[in-house]
Amino acid sequence: EEKQMSYSESIEKASGSLGRFPLIPVRGVPLMSLIANNWDSIWDFRPDPSDLLIATYPKAGTTWTQEIVDLLIHNGDAEICKRAPTPVRSPFLEIFSPPPIPSGLDLLKTMDPPRVIKTHLPFQLVPPAFWENKCKAIYVARNAKDNLVSYYFFDRMNLTQPEPGPWEGYIHKFMQGQLSWGPWYDHVKGYWVEREKRNILYIFYEDMKENPRREIERIMRYLDLSVSDEVISRIVELTSFKNMKENPMANYSCIPAPVFDQSISSFMRKGEVGDWRNHFTPEQSKMFDEDYERQMKEVNIPFRTLI
Ligand code: A3P
Repeated sequence: EEKQMSYSESIEKASGSLGRFPLIPVRGVPLMSLIANNWDSIWDFRPDPSDLLIATYPKAGTTWTQEIVDLLIHNGDAEICKRAPTPVRSPFLEIFSPPPIPSGLDLLKTMDPPRVIKTHLPFQLVPPAFWENKCKAIYVARNAKDNLVSYYFFDRMNLTQPEPGPWEGYIHKFMQGQLSWGPWYDHVKGYWVEREKRNILYIFYEDMKENPRREIERIMRYLDLSVSDEVISRIVELTSFKNMKENPMANYSCIPAPVFDQSISSFMRKGEVGDWRNHFTPEQSKMFDEDYERQMKEVNIPFRTLI
């Protein structure tokens, strides 16, 4: 409770220096200026070998996976997993914010390993010490069209990212890799091609929706944990969309406007597969699919075809 207050309060205190931050390319990848301007300290970050990285393109199911991992590590103890809001329990590696909001690196300095570290960086921008230290990493991928829809609604409520503009134009920005954290296509491919060499667990949002128990057990085995069937059942329940939406330590209510304005769109918005059908016109879908074929042809990642 106290930690949530202080995190929220830090945002309220910083409100005068918040606003929409422009994107600045870092090695060709557009990142929020706050990140780009602190790039060297991010690149030089040295994790402990026991730290776990959770990597995603924004809106692919990061928070869901962070919650699952925290519960697995704490043997399904719901109270321990409500000790603080998600970004305090599981810091966001590259995020820099105006003071007094703690940056991801500030929070990491206050925590003992093993830590669960979130990143949206594409593979080539992950600090190399993660791989030198053979850290474990979980990558979560979500089908492009739902990922795009989710990002569109998020960019409307996240008042620190560039204005999403109208829907049709947003589709083109996504296809051209102009959104914050760059192209979705390179992101999902970058981790896919490295997954065996780097021992990355690569999972899919759609698989988690289809059979959360199966995917939670995969994560458990990857982390070398052994958790009873009963506890797994409890974790499935605690990490349902409905329960996480109602959990103030998982639903991002800790981040008030002017960062997240959840009166525009909830962080826990819909949590479904195939919501893109409610947003793409048939023409937009056709155009997107043709471009997708071009951009994805060299790598065969088993996304469910949602055409
Ligand atoms: P929608 O906008 O489609 O609802 P991230 O955590 O990477 O920012 O991803 C957020 C997306 O994951 C949102 O998608 C959110 O609703 C969804 N999500 C979060 N928790 C979920 C859960 N327990 N089950 C299903 N979807 C979840």
